[in-house]
Amino acid sequence: FKTLAQINLRGQRVFIRCDLNVPLDGDGRISDDTRIRASLDGIRQAMQQGGRVMVTSHLGRPAEGALADRDSLRPVAERLAQLLRTPVPLVGNWLDQPFEVAPGQVVMLENCRAHVGEKANSAALAARMAALCDVYVNDAFGTAHRAEATTEALARLAGEACAGPLMAAELQALGRALAAPERPMAAIVGGSKVSTKLSILNALAQRVELLVVGGGMANTFLLAAGHPVGKSLCEPSMLDATREVVATLKSRGARLFLPTDVVVADAVSEAALPTIKPVAEVGGGDLILDFGPRSMRRLVDELEACKTIVWNGPLGVFEIEKFSHGTRMLATAIAGSQAFTIAGGGDTVAAINQFGIADRVDYVSTAGGAFLEFLEGKTLPAVRALQDRAH
Ligand code: 3PG
Repeated sequence: FKTLAQINLRGQRVFIRCDLNVPLDGDGRISDDTRIRASLDGIRQAMQQGGRVMVTSHLGRPAEGALADRDSLRPVAERLAQLLRTPVPLVGNWLDQPFEVAPGQVVMLENCRAHVGEKANSAALAARMAALCDVYVNDAFGTAHRAEATTEALARLAGEACAGPLMAAELQALGRALAAPERPMAAIVGGSKVSTKLSILNALAQRVELLVVGGGMANTFLLAAGHPVGKSLCEPSMLDATREVVATLKSRGARLFLPTDVVVADAVSEAALPTIKPVAEVGGGDLILDFGPRSMRRLVDELEACKTIVWNGPLGVFEIEKFSHGTRMLATAIAGSQAFTIAGGGDTVAAINQFGIADRVDYVSTAGGAFLEFLEGKTLPAVRALQDRAH
């Protein structure tokens, strides 16, 4: 596909689809502006080249046809204005009300997901958007797994379509881990439920030499291996599915890493008393909340031998200090590793920031769902649309 740098933007109306879907706290303030910062480069480039720049994104999952205050991009426009050190006017009803943007200036177009037809990838809606611009730039890798009007149909209908620098960087880094990874390759996948991550587990079982399953999912794997899990989060309906993942690994001579000791408590709380137990001794009232120290030493040793490491999902309840040691040791090992390391997903990025290792991971993706679908080997619809335009 084309990239932003290949197109002359002077005086052109440039529509940039970013993923500025940032977390907001209870007061509607941005609690993590990583995605806004990651989008600055593309926006700046377009402004510096003399484009008349319009930036939009979805925020949350608003009802179509109505925009509640909490779904407004206003706080995002304000933060962007601070970071760019230039005014960023917010245009509310941008499909119906005319607005002007001078060359070298930027405006923000209100939450694109509030338009009727956005989620259904309506060609009619995209055609109205295409009429607003000369050049369409997709810099929203985090939303590339969604075929929506601003991510897919518009890429096909706009006069010119190209990828922004963040989209290009994400695809390059993730492609490097997937296309021809240096081996051995390890993937660490955490999360609460096997059912929501089964397809990524199956896909990774076909690719990696070492698959580490963490979080609540590890309990389901432990149960499938015949270990007691007490009151821990686990999915008995997924036992056969987990056994299949293990069988796929075995058939390729690859391995599953599960903890041999765990940190348990009787509640998920700051006040709970943590105890370290071998997995065989987990009691009926225990909740497994982290990997134990022996398991972590073994895991750190195993990761040392790896040349590519992909990380998505914490090992334990890292938000609570006493259950964070496994995830912290993992983060430290990844930070110190000689391997090509990539990480992605909301919880993972939060852990990376909490442990202060962001600048020691080779690539931290801004994406959650799109990161996982890319690693599954799926073609992302927004990326395909850009590729099709290049032919
Ligand atoms: C994300 O946060 O993963 C992306 O912004 C996509 O958001 P969505 O799941 O609401 O489409």
